[in-house]
Amino acid sequence: MIIDINETDYKATVAEVRRRVSEREHFAYVISFGCQQNEADAERARGIALDMGYSLTDKPSEASLILINTCAIREHAEMKALSLLGNFKALKKERPELIIGILGCMAARPEVARHLKEKFHYVSFTLEPNMLHKIPSRVLSYMDDAKRSFLLGEDQGDIVEGLPVKRISKSRAWVSIMYGCNNFCTYCIVPYVRGRERSRSSDAIITECRELVASGIKEITLLGQNVNSYRSDMDFPMLLEKIAMIPGDFIIRFMTSHPKDASDELIKVMSRNPEKIAPFFHLPLQSGSDRILRAMNRTYDSARYLSLARSLREAIPDIALSTDVIIGFPGEEEEDFEDTLNVLREVGFDLVYSFNFSPREGTRAAKMTETVPKEIKDERMKRLLTMQDEISLSQNLRYVGRREKVLIERAESAPEGYTYTARTGSNKLVHFTSENYLGENFVYVDIERAGAFDLFATLVK
Ligand code: SAH
Ligand code: SF4
Ligand code: F3S
Repeated sequence: MIIDINETDYKATVAEVRRRVSEREHFAYVISFGCQQNEADAERARGIALDMGYSLTDKPSEASLILINTCAIREHAEMKALSLLGNFKALKKERPELIIGILGCMAARPEVARHLKEKFHYVSFTLEPNMLHKIPSRVLSYMDDAKRSFLLGEDQGDIVEGLPVKRISKSRAWVSIMYGCNNFCTYCIVPYVRGRERSRSSDAIITECRELVASGIKEITLLGQNVNSYRSDMDFPMLLEKIAMIPGDFIIRFMTSHPKDASDELIKVMSRNPEKIAPFFHLPLQSGSDRILRAMNRTYDSARYLSLARSLREAIPDIALSTDVIIGFPGEEEEDFEDTLNVLREVGFDLVYSFNFSPREGTRAAKMTETVPKEIKDERMKRLLTMQDEISLSQNLRYVGRREKVLIERAESAPEGYTYTARTGSNKLVHFTSENYLGENFVYVDIERAGAFDLFATLVK
């Protein structure tokens, strides 16, 4: 079902909160952990806070509303959020009227919600992802009678349209095209916390993209846990091409693609639209061992993966490839790990994100008994990183001497002007300096040096 917030009590509740906070300036502190999807949600949460009459702050000490948008993908991500939350206990003691809300994927785990309810008395409410439109009613009921709320199972897989958004960047924007995941990779918590796949309407997405381009946005990143299973009146390749047809000087990125259904048609659309669709593809491998891939329920094997990588390289010259790898999945033997290194070597990725396996309660892999000791995981991780650094460096060295169009992301003032961080279409970070302030715009640079993670360039005047 599509929920248009204009047809709910959202507006009325927002107006009431706004009335209550109008007597003086109130601040909201919103912080986010986890993936881009969560970043996009945090921008909505900030939009809602502004709507409710709060000003945004980056100092929790002055906030009267704190929202923590959490990630549950690995234990480490959960620990980070909980330790941050621990810091706020003292604040709450000083100012009992402080409202602390826990959003995001941790909030959708029953055991976490219970733990927060029982052990963290200073938490006012939790809200599952996709329930952002309920922030105002949770805030209001806490204001009314300090009523805490830890409901679960409210997320019925709806699509919520029309929420306000406060974008951090003036030049780059996230656009969610679908929510949830149906894949149930055996290690992964996402299908449990984000629910089943559902796609926004193509009209809503294309209209949003048009408006973004008209407002000066230069990079649009389409988001979904598995964008290739986007389905509405069109599929993902067609949606991508329609967005590429919007006139204007902008580029499109998308993530994430599952190797099982990244299609030939998608590759064709990319190669037909080199000006608009960035020559970059994030294609999570997870493991190069067919045995482990089966145990992970990834439904492709290393041969299928390699042939996909080859097709991408053939169709889109200079495409950059990145991937995710899990190290130490239960049962991973030295041989399996070497299979992974072999695939990494054969593809020659530009960038690899590698993670030690972290068992997630409720997933199938958490019950598997052939666990890999931490020392072995760490040792494998080290080998992988050492090998990959060299590959990344050699990929980057190919850029030296080239002229590239880059989009500026950050400027910092320096003694003689500004140092800039920008990004190529192929997603490489580029550093350069200029006397002039250039804004968050496209510029051309000549690449002069390369490291494993960055390129260094001079601005073309
Ligand atoms: N939907 C995306 C990515 C989701 S999570 C996809 O299908 O690839 C991002 C990455 O986190 C995954 O690609 C995986 O490499 C890693 N990850 C997920 N669950 C994990 C776990 N339990 N332990 C370690 N890494 C994990
Ligand atoms: Fe998790 Fe697999 Fe879904 Fe990605 S495709 S979100 S790894 S279950
Ligand atoms: Fe984390 Fe949830 Fe994203 S678990 S990686 S924030 S979908």
